[in-house]
Amino acid sequence: DWTPNAFVQETVDDLQAKLGGDKVVLGLSGGVDSSVAAMLLHKAIGKNLYCIFVNNGLLRKNEFTDVLEQYKGMGLNVKGVDASARFLDALAGLSDPELKRKAIGKTFIEVFDDEAHLIQDVKWLAQGTIYPDVIESVSATGGPSATIKSHHNVGGLPDYMKLQIVEPLRALFKDEVRRVGASMDMDKDLLGRHPFPGPGLAIRILGDITAEKVQILQDVDAVFINGLRESGLYDKVWQAGAILLPVNSVGVMGDERTYEKCVALRAVESTDGMTADWVNLPYEFLQKTSNDIINKVKGVNRVVYDISSKPPATIEWE
Ligand code: XMP
Repeated sequence: DWTPNAFVQETVDDLQAKLGGDKVVLGLSGGVDSSVAAMLLHKAIGKNLYCIFVNNGLLRKNEFTDVLEQYKGMGLNVKGVDASARFLDALAGLSDPELKRKAIGKTFIEVFDDEAHLIQDVKWLAQGTIYPDVIESVSATGGPSATIKSHHNVGGLPDYMKLQIVEPLRALFKDEVRRVGASMDMDKDLLGRHPFPGPGLAIRILGDITAEKVQILQDVDAVFINGLRESGLYDKVWQAGAILLPVNSVGVMGDERTYEKCVALRAVESTDGMTADWVNLPYEFLQKTSNDIINKVKGVNRVVYDISSKPPATIEWE
């Protein structure tokens, strides 16, 4: 019978036998898979695991600093790399969703390759690939491994991709990954996190990306996600987020006419992201969230709720 404890023991033994004293590099995304993979490797080889956590500037509000602290608290040998400006530059002027994804994937590879080069004699690249990633081309897990897979054929292989690959979660489903994490006493909030796409907020800002738009969307998203947590709804939802629409609409504030941005909120139930139903969030919650967003986030005067299911609508708008 499969148990998480037995899996951890066996995997740690296997990793030690396979890796010996070799150095391993791993890209952390803040998501469940890369974090659990890192903990297993940390148990097996300690400081010989070199983790890299890249801020692409498209993460949730405060996510980079909060999650980096959390990783350090877990004892991981992790380096945070703030490459926000580099990603924003690469995205400048791009509106097409696939071009934005390509620019982000390419930039991620460049940043990661630069960092991997700084580690002397690194022999292995670890990835948080799980079984559904192995059998499907589209990953719902987000993060570096997904980004690498969908973009590894862009302009020749970077040096770090010539490393040997180690993927300790390759045989597991998502719920098993969570149980493995829990058996290593990893934080519940980290293990229960909603999936978040590798390209991050870039595919939730329809059209071109600017620093100002990113900040508006981060603020809106934070009100929505914190509200879900405070109302006890977070764990009832598979994935949630806000979308910044390329639409201004007329509003009124006091005696003033406003002409400001519109955001859409999206929350879905799903098991694997392949199909999804919109969540029937309570009206009182939607009412409070809408008021909070419009009162707290400057530049937004209208909130709508997405009531489309997949198929035919996808989860992300881009
Ligand atoms: P869609 O929009 O295709 O999303 O219904 C299904 C799941 O995949 C995530 N998603 C992505 N994840 N890179 C990723 O790592 C991407 O380019 C990407 N596009 C969508 C989405 O968040 C959802 O969980």
